Amino acid sequence: MDSNEVSRWCDARRETHATGEPGRRIEIRDPYRLRATERDAIAGQCARFNFALYRFARGRSDSGGSNPGHSNPGALSAFASAMGLHRRDLTLGVDHHGIAAVRVVPRPNGPEMIPFTSRALNWHTDGYYNALERSVRSIVMHCASPAASGGETTLLDPDLVYATMHAQDPALVEALAHPYAMTIPAHEAEGTVIRPARAGPVFRFLARKFHRFTAAGAAPTDHLGAPASRSGEIFGLDAPPKLYMRYTMRTRSIQWRSTPDTTRAVIALEEAIALLASEYVHVRFEAGEGVICNNVLHRRSAFVDGEGEGARRVMLRIRSLDPVSIG
Ligand SMILES: [Fe+2]
Repeated sequence: MDSNEVSRWCDARRETHATGEPGRRIEIRDPYRLRATERDAIAGQCARFNFALYRFARGRSDSGGSNPGHSNPGALSAFASAMGLHRRDLTLGVDHHGIAAVRVVPRPNGPEMIPFTSRALNWHTDGYYNALERSVRSIVMHCASPAASGGETTLLDPDLVYATMHAQDPALVEALAHPYAMTIPAHEAEGTVIRPARAGPVFRFLARKFHRFTAAGAAPTDHLGAPASRSGEIFGLDAPPKLYMRYTMRTRSIQWRSTPDTTRAVIALEEAIALLASEYVHVRFEAGEGVICNNVLHRRSAFVDGEGEGARRVMLRIRSLDPVSIG
């Protein structure tokens, strides 16, 4: 996009946010059989805010059985697939649906993994340490069981952060669009490289995915040349692109590009996030509730688990390489 197009895109994103209800929960009667109205409501919220809050209904479903998929991994997976999250990020510890159960896991002898503790998690998007061609485009975070207290999630659309920084000075977002803006150092253990260093931009625009039938025999590919997830899907370069943000506010194990422009931009980014406090959506999910999103900025407050299985916080998480389908 040229600079005029970027300015228009920023204006449009701000205007879109000025109306609507980002905190609205969309009721899903049966996650195994998403209704067209439910799907359209989710897609509409995601087109507008890049996230949608939902609630799986309690009680009987259209397909029989009680309390369908209230926190059932199969139901959650079906719901995510119906919203276009086909290619899952299969990281260590996920089940056959690509679902991770995020809960407190004591590791008396191993290194601490903060998501699996009860501590707060600062602003980030998921998978910032992934290779760029395996960027996490969307996530679902579904509450199977809330904590006894705390564990609030806060959401913020990265488009607003970009627009705020661009309005302040376009050079700020340009500095963070540099291919070496943010590097996650290699993960090594006992002399073995478990994950190589990952360098990449914080901000980049990606082509949108289209559902369109290609000519017979043509092999659809995505914008990176990889096979498209399903036959008949291609990535249209003529559609308005989608902003992708790769970021963590943590300061350990992050190397920022060593230039004055980058340093200034990183400070401006933290300030922009703070400035946008009125746009935050705070949610404390009850069992059966969750968020589906285009990997927006999010953070988690610390929490305290109760005694017994049902009183401990469990969030089921799906990460996908596909954005939420809004077509
Ligand atoms: Fe996260």
